[in-house]
Amino acid sequence: MDHLQTQGIQTQGISVPRLGLGTFRMQGDVCRAAVESALALGYRHIDTAEMYGNEDAVGAAIASSGVARKDLHVTTKVWPDNLGSPDAIRGAFDASLKKLRLDHVDLYLVHWPSRRMNLPVVLETLMKLKQEGRTRAVGVANFTLALLKSAVEDISAPIACNQIEYHVMLDQSKVLAYLRSKSIPLVAYCPLAQGRAASNDTLAAIGRKHNASAAQVALKWLLDQDGVAAIPKASRKESQQANLDAYKVTLDDEDRKAIAALPKNNRFVSPGVAPDWDA
Ligand SMILES: NC(=O)c1ccc[n+]([C@@H]2O[C@H](COP(=O)([O-])OP(=O)(O)OC[C@H]3O[C@@H](n4cnc5c(N)ncnc54)[C@H](OP(=O)(O)O)[C@@H]3O)[C@@H](O)[C@H]2O)c1
Repeated sequence: MDHLQTQGIQTQGISVPRLGLGTFRMQGDVCRAAVESALALGYRHIDTAEMYGNEDAVGAAIASSGVARKDLHVTTKVWPDNLGSPDAIRGAFDASLKKLRLDHVDLYLVHWPSRRMNLPVVLETLMKLKQEGRTRAVGVANFTLALLKSAVEDISAPIACNQIEYHVMLDQSKVLAYLRSKSIPLVAYCPLAQGRAASNDTLAAIGRKHNASAAQVALKWLLDQDGVAAIPKASRKESQQANLDAYKVTLDDEDRKAIAALPKNNRFVSPGVAPDWDA
């Protein structure tokens, strides 16, 4: 799957393959099998997190895959409970690396902002992990525009991405414009609107024109955008392959107009996931 390698987005010295495999809500053997299948199909970007409870399964799949480490991009994340001190962050990081059976990850993200965190201290700790070569780059997830500006402009942290919910049913134009102005990629999570995109009538009609599925249309709409990567979760091999094949779909202006007209106020992941963050 050469195109997956060549279409990486360059950011802070790393290349992030534009299509990755999400792994939330998969654990144990199910997760291991899904990651093994994805790696065999050509995926080279795996998204996990300490909170998903599956880094051990992801690590086992990577170990048995035979894929060279240098060809693989692995993202993991620190949960807000562990942002309280540099030691807590380091403890979480060490545990993640051990479970993943890796000596470094490619991206280490703050999973959710926390009201209790000291952002300069948190980012300073991540930057040290980067300097030590234990993560190749650092970034954030679920950061609002204000927090993002603080990280980038006040703290001057080398933020390599903001991973946020983004799909055909949710507008993210303001954050995207800011990220683009700073050449920071947006990694779109829930790119299929948690699967809802697959049964959307408008997307299905567009798909019929191109001999593609509604889910593929939703993914290609994201992948066509500058500086946007997507990490759909798919447990089934057929869906994983279909999502890779989304690259082959060519959307036209009429399609983009119809997608632009879909309601864009549907956020499916509640910011309340982090108990002390509701902004
Ligand atoms: N940073 C964060 O706070 C955060 C939050 C949420 C998610 N994420 C990341 O983003 C990833 C993706 O988000 P998500 O898993 O919530 O939602 P998603 O990727 O939008 O949707 C996943 C759902 O779509 C289905 N699906 C996948 N490919 C399909 C296809 N080709 N046709 C039809 N259905 C298809 C999957 O089915 P099967 O399960 O049956 O395969 C699953 O039910 C997560 O796994 C995680 O890695 C990050």
